[in-house]
Amino acid sequence: MLNKDLPLPLYYQIEEYLKRKIEEREFGVGELIPSERELSERFQVSRMTVRQAVTNLVNAGVLYREKGKGTFVAERKIEQPLKGLTSFTEDMRQRGMSSSSKLIAFEAMVAPGEIREKLKLKDEEEIYCVRRIRMADRKPMAIETTFMPVKLLPGLTEKIAKGSIYHYVEQELGMAISHARQMIEARAADEEQAHLLDILPQSPVLHIERSSLLSKGIPFEVVRSTYRADRYSFISDIER
Ligand code: GLP
Repeated sequence: MLNKDLPLPLYYQIEEYLKRKIEEREFGVGELIPSERELSERFQVSRMTVRQAVTNLVNAGVLYREKGKGTFVAERKIEQPLKGLTSFTEDMRQRGMSSSSKLIAFEAMVAPGEIREKLKLKDEEEIYCVRRIRMADRKPMAIETTFMPVKLLPGLTEKIAKGSIYHYVEQELGMAISHARQMIEARAADEEQAHLLDILPQSPVLHIERSSLLSKGIPFEVVRSTYRADRYSFISDIER
């Protein structure tokens, strides 16, 4: 039951109720939740209030709507720790999920200005531009565009790019990946990103840029990625 004397809005209390039911597995992943009408009768509130609660949980990626069918429980988000310089392949393996990539571009080209500077290249030096849709258990999680100097990875092939680039760099080329700087910011998916990630245009996504270095401070990749915000959250432990 909702408590109308609490200083918490009623929609918030309904959100908490739905989240608890999901936590307790009473509403399982992929299951239809009760309709707006049922919830408004159960809690004796207006449908507007119920809609507000459900919309908030849809925006948070806890629920998803299907046109003409109803509202369902979404899969739990992947919680990605913000420590350790890991690869997508390693992250998925650690979770017991299968990883795969759809290669949508693989080209060698002269580096455009900003990328050239970040990779500390000379004017005419070439880079690989690799664009991949990263999939976990066959579902699209992220789009990643990776720029790498050709001179550091001369033998890179499409086949390698469909697997793990980090594995190739470390195990096949014997180079040590040492550290990276990463930036994460909120964006809205454009039409193309939405299509590739199987989400609606303007859905929230996380834009991540990573610049990684080999030992001795040699830059070897600049990566621009778009992660589904409904599937990912980033976690860090902080100490005082
Ligand atoms: C993650 C990082 C990327 C990195 C990639 C390498 O997705 N966000 O910056 O390039 O891992 O992954 P893999 O070794 O699977 O190709």
